[in-house]
Amino acid sequence: MNKKIQLGILFGSRACEHEVSIISALQLASMANPFKYDVIPIYISKKGEWYIGGALWKMETYLNFDPRKSGLTRVFPDVSARSRALMAFERGGVFRGERRYVAARLDAVIPVLHGQHGEDGSMMGLLELMDLPYAATGVAGSAVGMDKIMMKRLFDGCGFPVLKDTSLTRSFFEQNQEEACLQVEKALPYPVFVKPANLGSSIGVSRAGNRAELIDALALAFTLDRRVLIEQGLEDPIEVNCSVLGFDEDVMPSVVEMPVREGALLDFKTKYLASSQQSGMASLSRLIPAPISEEDTQKVQAIAVDIFKALDCKGVVRVDFMLDRTDGTLYITEINTIPGSLAFYLWEKTGEGLSYRALIDRLVDCAFAAYAEKDRLVTSFQSDIIASAIARRQSGAKGGKM
Ligand SMILES: Nc1ncnc2c1ncn2[C@@H]1O[C@H](COP(=O)(O)OP(=O)(O)O)[C@@H](O)[C@H]1O
Ligand SMILES: [Mg+2]
Repeated sequence: MNKKIQLGILFGSRACEHEVSIISALQLASMANPFKYDVIPIYISKKGEWYIGGALWKMETYLNFDPRKSGLTRVFPDVSARSRALMAFERGGVFRGERRYVAARLDAVIPVLHGQHGEDGSMMGLLELMDLPYAATGVAGSAVGMDKIMMKRLFDGCGFPVLKDTSLTRSFFEQNQEEACLQVEKALPYPVFVKPANLGSSIGVSRAGNRAELIDALALAFTLDRRVLIEQGLEDPIEVNCSVLGFDEDVMPSVVEMPVREGALLDFKTKYLASSQQSGMASLSRLIPAPISEEDTQKVQAIAVDIFKALDCKGVVRVDFMLDRTDGTLYITEINTIPGSLAFYLWEKTGEGLSYRALIDRLVDCAFAAYAEKDRLVTSFQSDIIASAIARRQSGAKGGKM
């Protein structure tokens, strides 16, 4: 019998969306095919400590996380290329000090991290160093996708439709509040939407209809980020989202959804707390497929795929759009490179229907496909620079500039 794939599920981490990540990850872990994978949940605490162990399967473990609880083992990722080990330490007796051992050895991981220190490319950097296959967008695409200011510059440069915006730094706002407000007002008419550059789940996002609201909105956003995006606001836009799945040229869009909104924006509460079933993004009320024209649906799907390719994405992402009710113009709101619930609820309703279990198989396939592509690259070549530098020194030649 073939050995099962040791599949790590990375979640938690030092992010505002820590809890959302736990919900998404446990949901995914329970859906993976147990005949194919040994699923290894890997929890990163709010302090940034890594844990594995049976206790991670229980939601109660996270209520007041206590690392001393039984069923938890603190682990340390071995960054040596291809080791793919999570190391642990145990006391080796009074005189023997600590003993180091391999607590788990991974074949691939699915990062289910939302927000900072995870979705933003930092984890992908670590996984690249570890030379461990992972089912998520790479370092650059993740970083640009996370940073709303850079993301919009890139989309605009690619010719994708985005709303007008401007941006501010905290130090500028704190030193020149009047000037900062004038800069915004010169660039955009009210209402505007104010967003921390590197957050998600609507945390710190607010609408400002005048100067006083703008100052409040900026003050709030600057408690969450050093840089803030201020964007042209749409009144009561139609919001639609489309997921994209794949890698390289093998990429497909999902059915389009329309999330149902209650207030001025889809806020954290509506997105995650509306249901008592703790099912994350999957519990938000939504219309699938979105009741928009066939033409708009196709346009949304085509742009979503183009964006996936522009950021060289991998695995599953979700691209969010807004339709202006007044003239039907379509704008991109953002890309989520690790969407809530990994957008499984969209894939279940796409084409013949892709089950969550099958979606996880696809994600792992993407991880291995990308890894195989990377493995083909030449990462070192024989060079005699060192030898000739030594020879030159020995022959007494004054070395020129390298
Ligand atoms: N320019 C805008 N005009 C109108 N509503 C907006 C605008 N930007 C954002 N919103 C509302 O705020 C929500 C969150 O904004 P978004 O940019 O998606 O941030 P997040 O990454 O926190 O989800 C959107 O889903 C939408 O309801
Ligand atoms: Mg959003």
